[in-house]
Amino acid sequence: TPAERIRNFCIIAHIDHGKSTLADRMLQLTGSVEDRVMRAQYLDKMDLERERGITIKSQAVRMPWHIDGEDYILNMIDTPGHVDFSYEVSRSLAACEGAILLVDAAQGIEAQTLANLYLALENDLEVIPVLNKIDLPSADPERYAAEIANLIGGEPEDVLRVSGKTGDGVKELLDVIVDRLPAPKGDLDAAPRAMIFDSVYDTYRGVVTYVRMVDGKLRNGEKIQMISTGASHDLLEMGVSAPEPRTAKGLAVGEVGYLITGVKDVRQSRVGDTVTSAKNPATDALEGFVEPKPMVYSGLYPIDAGDYPELREALDKLKLEDAALHYEPETSVALGFGFRVGFLGLLHLEIITERLSREFDLDIITTAPSVTYDVVTEDGNVHHVTNPSEFPEGKIEEVREPIVRASILVPKEYIGKVMELCESRRGSLISMDYLSEERVELRYTLPLGEIVFDFFDQLKSRTQGYASLDYEPIGDQAADLVKVDILLQGEKVDAFSAIVHRDNAYSYGTMMAERLRKLIPRQQFEVPIQAAIGARIIARENIRAIRKDVLAKCYGGDISRKRKLLEKQKEGKKRMKMVGRVEVPQEAFIAALSGD
Ligand code: GTP
Repeated sequence: TPAERIRNFCIIAHIDHGKSTLADRMLQLTGSVEDRVMRAQYLDKMDLERERGITIKSQAVRMPWHIDGEDYILNMIDTPGHVDFSYEVSRSLAACEGAILLVDAAQGIEAQTLANLYLALENDLEVIPVLNKIDLPSADPERYAAEIANLIGGEPEDVLRVSGKTGDGVKELLDVIVDRLPAPKGDLDAAPRAMIFDSVYDTYRGVVTYVRMVDGKLRNGEKIQMISTGASHDLLEMGVSAPEPRTAKGLAVGEVGYLITGVKDVRQSRVGDTVTSAKNPATDALEGFVEPKPMVYSGLYPIDAGDYPELREALDKLKLEDAALHYEPETSVALGFGFRVGFLGLLHLEIITERLSREFDLDIITTAPSVTYDVVTEDGNVHHVTNPSEFPEGKIEEVREPIVRASILVPKEYIGKVMELCESRRGSLISMDYLSEERVELRYTLPLGEIVFDFFDQLKSRTQGYASLDYEPIGDQAADLVKVDILLQGEKVDAFSAIVHRDNAYSYGTMMAERLRKLIPRQQFEVPIQAAIGARIIARENIRAIRKDVLAKCYGGDISRKRKLLEKQKEGKKRMKMVGRVEVPQEAFIAALSGD
C-alpha cells in the first residue's frame, strides 16, 4: 500500500473509558472481524489466549477503510497505559501520525490521559478529541467538551461524540481519521529503517517484534540488522495483524507490522531500536533509543529458603519477556538468600511479584522499595546505592536523590488536602491550573523516594478516590538524607535499614523499633532494639527477658515426652534466624516488613 493511503494512529484513554469497546466497533465496521466471530473486547481476549500460548496479542491492528471511492489502510497501535511504561508509550506514539484522545463523557479527562496527551503533542501528533459513552444518562458532553477544548485548543463543537457501545458516531470517526491525520512521510528508495515500538515474547514463536517502517522496504526472508548492537538475524516471518496474524511479502514505508527472527530474548530486539537490512544497511539509527533504567529497587526473598533456585529460574524466564527487569543475587541476615531487583516503578514491581506468585507459585517477601541514591563520600567518590544497607560508612559529602515532576488532577474541594500531603512529602508546587470550573491540575516536584512509599494510597484516601496522579523523572537533587539502621542487641538487621530525610529519621526509627518489639518473642535475656544514624542511637525499645523452660512442665519423670518436646523446639528453631544471640522467627521479620 502506498504511504498516501495509510493512516497510523493510537488511542489515548484512561482505563475504563472504553478503548477496547471502541476498538471492537472499529473492527466490525471495517469488516476486519466478521459479526459471527465478534465478541466483546476482541483484542483483549487475544491477550488472554496469548498467556496460554495460543495467539499473539496484536500490538497493532490493520483495518481497511473505504471513503470517497478510495481504499485506505488504518493501523491502530496499542499504547500501554501506565506511567511506569512511559518510554514504551513514547515509542508507540512515535510510530503514529495521530492520536485519538478518548474521554468518558461522564468522567472527564484523567491525569494519566493528560500525561499521554502531552507526550503526543510533544511528538507532533495530530490529536482528534473524542467523547465516548454519550449514550450514558450521566454523560455530560457539553461540560467535558469545553474542558478538552480548553486544554488542546479548538472549539467544544469540534470534539467528536461517540458511543462505542451503540456504535453511534464511530463511522464518522473513521472518516475523520482519514481526513484529518497526515499520511506517513518517509523515503521509499532509502536504505530501510524500521522502528521497534513493541517486542513481545511468545512461547512458541520466540520474540515477536512490532515495527513501523520509516524508510525503504524490508522483504520477507531477507537478513536484518539491529542498529544499536549490529547483530543480524534471519527474517523467518514478516506480516501484519488484521487482527489475526497474516504473513506479507514485505513491508514498505509507512506500514506497520511484525517480524519474527527466532531470537528468544526481548533484549535482542529492543523497543526503540532501529531495524535495517543487513545487505543494504542504513547508517543512522532513528532518534529516541533509550535503555530502560530501573527507578525502584527492592529485595525479593523466597519465604521458604528452599525455593531460591525456583525464584532464580522464574526471574530468568520473566527477563526473556521484559527488557526492563534487572536483578542480581543478594543475601540478608534477616531474610537469607534472595535477589535485589530493579523496576521501572511501583506498578512494574507489583506486576512482577504478582506474576511470581500466580504463574510460578512462589511465596516471596519484598523489602521496602528504595530508589537509587548517589552518595558522594569525602574522598570524592560517587557511590550508586540501590540498597540502603550498602550506604557507605564514614563522612558523607552529599546525597542526591531522584526527583519527579508530578501532575495531580483533583476536584477543587480537595486542593487543600492534596497540598498538605505533597508538602509533608517535601514537594514544591510548580503550578496550579483550572482545567474547568471544578477541576484543577496541580504540578509538583517531589522526591521519587517519597512517592514510592504509600503516596498514591494516601492521595486516594484523602480525596475519596477522585485524584489521579502521574509523574515523570526529571533528574537528581541533593538532600539532607541519612541512613537509619535498626539494631537488635547491637547487631544491624540489614533488611530494615532505610535512607530517609533527616527530619523523618526519628519517626522511622521509633516506628520500626516499636513494631519489632511487638513481633519478636521474648528471649532468655533482655534485648534492646535500637535505631541509629551511624554510631548515634536515636531511638530505643526493650524486649524484656523471660525464662521459658519447656522442660519445667514435665516434672522430671517421662523421658520420651521430654525428648518429644525438645524435638519440637528444634523444629521451630529451623525457621528461626539468629541475629547475634537473638533468635527471631522469620515471620516476625516478614510481618515487620509488610507493616501488619
Ligand atoms: P481497559 O481495557 O481496562 O483499559 O478498559 P477500556 O478503556 O478498554 O474500556 P472498555 O472498553 O473495557 O470499557 C469499560 C467499560 O465501559 C465496560 O464496562 C464497557 O461495557 C463500558 N463502555 C465502553 N464504551 C461504552 C459506551 O459507549 N457506552 C456505555 N454505556 N458503556 C461503555
